[in-house]
Amino acid sequence: MSRKITIIGAGSVGSTIAYSLSQEELASQIVMIDINKDKAEGEVMDIEQGTCFREPISIIAGDYPDAKDSDIVIITSGIARKPGQTRIDLAQTNVNILKSITPQIVKEAPNALYVIVSNPVDIMTYVFTKISGLPERQIIGSGTILDTARLRCGLSEKLQVAQKNIHAYVFGEHGDTSFIPWTGVYVSGIHVDEYVNVAQHMGKDVQPIDKDEMSEYVRKSGGIVIAKKGATFYAVSRSVCQLCKTLLASSETVVTVSSMMHGEYGVEDVCLSTLTLVGPKGISGKIPMRMNKEETKKLQASAEALKSVIAQINL
Ligand code: LAC
Repeated sequence: MSRKITIIGAGSVGSTIAYSLSQEELASQIVMIDINKDKAEGEVMDIEQGTCFREPISIIAGDYPDAKDSDIVIITSGIARKPGQTRIDLAQTNVNILKSITPQIVKEAPNALYVIVSNPVDIMTYVFTKISGLPERQIIGSGTILDTARLRCGLSEKLQVAQKNIHAYVFGEHGDTSFIPWTGVYVSGIHVDEYVNVAQHMGKDVQPIDKDEMSEYVRKSGGIVIAKKGATFYAVSRSVCQLCKTLLASSETVVTVSSMMHGEYGVEDVCLSTLTLVGPKGISGKIPMRMNKEETKKLQASAEALKSVIAQINL
């Protein structure tokens, strides 16, 4: 296995992704690039010195030319969300940073799959799609992959069943207008509402899911973690690491990631998350999920909210 992953941005998210990747047999080379070279070098030393317990791996703090021939480039650069700040407040600052990075990295790694993580991630994915000149299949926003992970975590606790048995997704913006299409929430082939009855029948102390409360839990989790500890980085990093695994796998996987919409569910010219098939060639298509009218409207409202931000930023 000779895989190269470049991470741009050595902040908490970028470094934790690098650490996460260093604990997996996924990449043989990791390159970290940051405008603050000392920070990148410090992170690399700290991560590298914990790698004697695994197969050899090269981890370096580099410059853009070191990203040449990367299989995956992960963009995490940007100012982090501060307590009380929404992802949208960050938009213009982080768009400006992305605009300065894009030509430099695309020149070195035109064939890589790009994973956009910087917030507001749907806006950043949209801007990158517009300015990079790369085929859309190569551009994958981390989108609601984390929200989906949070949902599965929350449902697992309430339903007292393993997260891996829960098939449930968060759609739309990674942010305040995200929503859960409950029509598609299943526990191992049984719709969640029916599963509650089944579990009660089995004598388990499982209550019907309060759907508004669960949506709130998913939407507010990022903000709550930031308010309590100043930043979120573990769960997002695990999610991105898992996404890299699916991008390097031989078969394709269904995930909720952000990418350009072309009329699916009546939504176009905006990036947001719906069921998407990804694999070694990047995005191979969107899976149309059956949603009811109300859910489709929520997706369209999420698209409109994102479009109103796009209209306000200087591309
Ligand atoms: C969160 C940040 C990464 O939701 O947006 O945790």
